[in-house]
Amino acid sequence: MRRAVCPGSFDPITYGHLDIIERASRHFDEVIVAVLENRTKSSLFTVDERISMISEVTKKFSNVRVDSWSGLLVDYCKSNSVQSIVKGLRAVSDFDYELQMAQVNLQGSGVETMFMATSPTHSFLSSSLVKELAHYGGDVSSMVPPSINEALKRRVAGK
Ligand code: PNS
Repeated sequence: MRRAVCPGSFDPITYGHLDIIERASRHFDEVIVAVLENRTKSSLFTVDERISMISEVTKKFSNVRVDSWSGLLVDYCKSNSVQSIVKGLRAVSDFDYELQMAQVNLQGSGVETMFMATSPTHSFLSSSLVKELAHYGGDVSSMVPPSINEALKRRVAGK
């Protein structure tokens, strides 16, 4: 089985992430969207909240499932029989860091990283930008699915 992982913080998931997940799902038998449990990075949503939000917006893709992990991504890949990491590249600014990670991951474990060009409509999008806009009451309805927009509004209002 050709199995890929789309890893990230997904705090929250955006249309940019969804674009990559959907396109990856057409090239692999199974795609795991893996949420990093990052103890050092403060997040707006808990890992469980993010898993449930991602599950909701990816339920239409029958070969996509959602999981979380902590530690090295290649260790997760090994224990879950994942051969490929799929990442979206938005701009040249993403490249240096992504290339470094891809090379470290390849060298250490043989797990390949496949980069997909983000569709131009989403090239400026990031979770940080969405959070910043939502924090100041900006309209993010074109950047995240409706259920994520509602969750953001509730979280920002409750802060
Ligand atoms: O959405 P993000 O925060 O940009 O995702 C980054 C992520 C989680 C994909 C990346 O930081 C990662 O893979 N972290 C796990 C630790 C690891 O394996 N690092 C790579 C070797 S240096």
